[in-house]
Amino acid sequence: MSSHTPPKDKRQTVPAIRRRKGGRRLSMVTAYTYDHARIVDAAGVDMILVGDSVANVCLGHDSTLPVTMDQMVYHTAAVRRGTERALVIGDMPFLSYTVSEADAVRNAGRFLKEAGADAVKLEGGEEVKDTVRAIVRAGIPVVGHLGLTPQSVSMLGGYRVQGRSALAARAIIDAALGLEDAGAFALVLECVPVDVAREITERLEVPTIGIGAGPHCDGQVLVFHDLLGLSRGGHSPRFVKRYADLAGAAIDAIQAFVGEVQSGAFPAAEHCFQMSEGEDQKLPETLSLPTRGTVADGLVAPTPDEPV
Ligand code: KIV
Repeated sequence: MSSHTPPKDKRQTVPAIRRRKGGRRLSMVTAYTYDHARIVDAAGVDMILVGDSVANVCLGHDSTLPVTMDQMVYHTAAVRRGTERALVIGDMPFLSYTVSEADAVRNAGRFLKEAGADAVKLEGGEEVKDTVRAIVRAGIPVVGHLGLTPQSVSMLGGYRVQGRSALAARAIIDAALGLEDAGAFALVLECVPVDVAREITERLEVPTIGIGAGPHCDGQVLVFHDLLGLSRGGHSPRFVKRYADLAGAAIDAIQAFVGEVQSGAFPAAEHCFQMSEGEDQKLPETLSLPTRGTVADGLVAPTPDEPV
């Protein structure tokens, strides 16, 4: 099998993901557009998260807070269209699930109804437990998110590792058990110490997906742009492993294009179209006709048999 051939196994489901607890490790990668999703899906990733990190990596914001429900639904629908196999999870944006339970259920439902997502993810512990229960009761699968929860960056005082003290670790462990009890089918653990993630992973019956949470989780997630080296400049968190330098490759390619445009090497003959046989000779005479003609006259319409 070529390394670009999509895996043959069938579409992922929530129960199938749950059954992987303690078994073959789960992979999750973010994607934000149709083309991202096609790449991630073809690589055989189990779950695609349409993260609210779209705000940072695609829209140029310095936090996840500005992204709206409408934008998340728009990106999730594009990802759904590019996905055949992976489970698609829509990330509920800031204030879309904390104003009221009714609002949360309605917004969670939009991901499934309007965008075709399979599940939603939301951040928080004890304070969102009842909301998670209400969303699950409405038939919408939920992934929880604990540890460093970027939507609470102001409350947390910055992007910092969470659960370093025994008391803070205990609070995260209790919150994880609470989310499982409320019906979450998986839990993202972001930036927590290895021992805390291991403790949670051992205590929960649902899979944990780590990002900066060490090797004991049931799966791992990375942001598309970080994994592929598409983010330029700025601080790269320690938990990121870059598997390629696509931004570097893209800049090299575009610089080559600019150079060839300037030198005239592009476009070459193979990139150009010619007039139909004999028509070039008729052109001077046609140009001397009193009217220029219109496309409707067929005088300047492209010949129908010429594919681009
Ligand atoms: O929005 C996002 O990309 C995330 C992942 C970092 C888990 O929430």
